[in-house]
Amino acid sequence: MNNAKFITLEGIDGAGKSTQMSRIESFLTSRSIDYVMTREPGGTPLGEKLREILLHQDMHPETEALLMFASRAEHLSSLIKPALQAGKWVISDRFTDASFAYQGGGRGIGYERLAELETWVQGEFQPDLTLLFDLPVEVARQRLMKNASLDRFEHEREAFFERVRSAYLERASKFPERFVVIDSSLPLEEIDVILDKTLSTICK
Ligand code: TYD
Repeated sequence: MNNAKFITLEGIDGAGKSTQMSRIESFLTSRSIDYVMTREPGGTPLGEKLREILLHQDMHPETEALLMFASRAEHLSSLIKPALQAGKWVISDRFTDASFAYQGGGRGIGYERLAELETWVQGEFQPDLTLLFDLPVEVARQRLMKNASLDRFEHEREAFFERVRSAYLERASKFPERFVVIDSSLPLEEIDVILDKTLSTICK
C-alpha cells in the first residue's frame, strides 16, 4: 500500500474553502507530492452533469440526497480510488460530511438514512483528513453576497445555514481523529500556519 492521502475540505457556503484549496495545492507542489484536486458534487463527467442539476433544479430532499450519493459513487469508483491506488493524493472540495450537514442538518433527512447511503457507497472508506473551515453564518453570508450569481443552496435562509454549521461541528466532534476545525475568521497568514502544521503531520 502506498502513502497517498485523501483530504476533504468542508464548511458552509462562504467559509473560504476555495482560497484554501489553492494554498493546499502550493503546499503539495512545494513537497513534490503528486495530487489530484476535485470536487463534489462533480469530479467526473457524469458527476458534473449531476452538479448542474443539483445546483439549479428544485427537487425533493430525498432526491437531492440520492443524487449527491450517486455522484459520489461515480467519483469514488472512477477517480478517487484509482488515483489513490496510483499513489496520488486526492484533495476534494466537499465529500460525505457535506451530505450529513446539508441534507441532514439543512434539509432534515434522518441520520440513519444518510448513514445507510454512506455505507452503501463507501463501505468503511473515509478521508484521512477533513479540514472544516468554520465561520459564523452572518459573516459567511456577507462574503457570499459579493458573488454575482448564487446557486440553489446559496439562496437558502440564515436558519438553514445555522443548521448546516451545527451539523458540521457535530460531525467534527464525533470523528475527532480525522477532523481539524479551522476558524475561518482568522487572518490568512494564521490559517496558513495551521494548514502547514496539519499537512506536515499527515505527510509523515
Ligand atoms: P460548493 O463547494 O459550495 O461550490 P461553489 O463554491 O462553487 O459554490 O458546492 C456546491 C453546493 O453543494 C454547496 O452549497 C453544498 C452542496 N452540497 C450538498 O448539499 N451536499 C453534498 O453532499 C455536497 C457534496 C454538496
